[in-house]
Amino acid sequence: GGAVPFEGTHQAGITTPAQDRLHFVAFDVTTDDRATLVRMLQAWTEAARRMTRGEDAGPVGAVTGNEYAPPDDTGEAIGLPPAGLTLTIGFGPTLFRTADGVDRFGLADRQPAELVELPAFAGEELRPEISGGDLCVQACADDPQVAVHAVRNLARIGQGVVGVRWSQLGFGRTSSTTSDQSTPRNLFGFKDGTDNLKADQPQALDRFVWVSGTGTWMDGGSYLVSRRIRMLIEVWDRQNLRDQQDTIGRTKGSGAPIGATEEFDPVDLGALPPTSHVALAHPSNAGTAILRRGYSFVDGSDGLGRLDAGLFFLCYQSDPATGFVQVQRNLRTDKMNEYVKHTSSGVFACPPGLSGPDDWWGSGLF
Ligand code: HEM
Repeated sequence: GGAVPFEGTHQAGITTPAQDRLHFVAFDVTTDDRATLVRMLQAWTEAARRMTRGEDAGPVGAVTGNEYAPPDDTGEAIGLPPAGLTLTIGFGPTLFRTADGVDRFGLADRQPAELVELPAFAGEELRPEISGGDLCVQACADDPQVAVHAVRNLARIGQGVVGVRWSQLGFGRTSSTTSDQSTPRNLFGFKDGTDNLKADQPQALDRFVWVSGTGTWMDGGSYLVSRRIRMLIEVWDRQNLRDQQDTIGRTKGSGAPIGATEEFDPVDLGALPPTSHVALAHPSNAGTAILRRGYSFVDGSDGLGRLDAGLFFLCYQSDPATGFVQVQRNLRTDKMNEYVKHTSSGVFACPPGLSGPDDWWGSGLF
């Protein structure tokens, strides 16, 4: 139930031990005025700083203010602990330049070369209304109400400046980001996150996750890719166990790689079916590594008697081109593709952490 420090070299919510719940939100900026946007980002930072400490979003509070004014906090987190809340902000490519090339905020020359729209991938069925966004906030907490409260209050504070474009709830983290966390299971029933990049591998993080040496506002930051991946649960559930294990490349019980006995035994690529997910995603085949931080979702059912369920995949990398894009291209022949469908996509530049109490989200950019 404790608080995670909001300030630091890197933003919290990336290598922070993955919390149990997610509320991810993408916003579009509705004003064209740069100063208004900056003021809102400063107000967001203040509110985020307070909420990650377990306090109300505003200094007056949900129930102690003027009776004739709307409260500066919505109240549903009164009495709840910080629950490990982290709020991680990212800037989308459209903030710098719209799809038709308009530089709305004078930021075009600050757009990192790495921050471009993702290429198309075979088999995806992206829905534009739940993809992209000028800004995103990843809210993670061990209590769903705490994460939802945080997103709701940011949306409230942003009224007139930003509008919610889409949002996604997630449960049951599908990754471990530290070695002392036990590996959770995803909705296919498999342990997920065994071979993830982890907080206790600083050299690998410096190489694959953190931006460094660019001399730009992104040094110390990271790029986030989001993909809502629908799982065709009913199809999967009819496959026999052997086939499921051959699809993933690991055994369902222990999570050991096929051909090995323990979960953390090294992957022997020669023993895995060559088109299994792990074989194709493994660094020795994909040539790179990413930090995965996804969550399961069940958004009810689809009206055709099937669960609208899957994995809201989130990953962090120092460059999307040599991170997600490279791995996803290598998954072209993945046996798992029969059972999944990507329906939403986003790419965001997440700046470094805040240096102190006066620093704010976007200070290096604007
Ligand atoms: C590993 C499931 C999508 C990249 C794994 C593992 C499972 C899994 C069970 C093995 C345990 C582990 O090492 O974490 C899934 C499911 C997905 C999905 C159910 C979609 C619904 C993706 C996507 C990417 C990806 C879209 C990247 C483009 C990886 C990587 C590994 C991995 C890099 C580690 C491979 C290794 O080093 O051995 N995934 N995954 N996965 N997955 Fe996925």
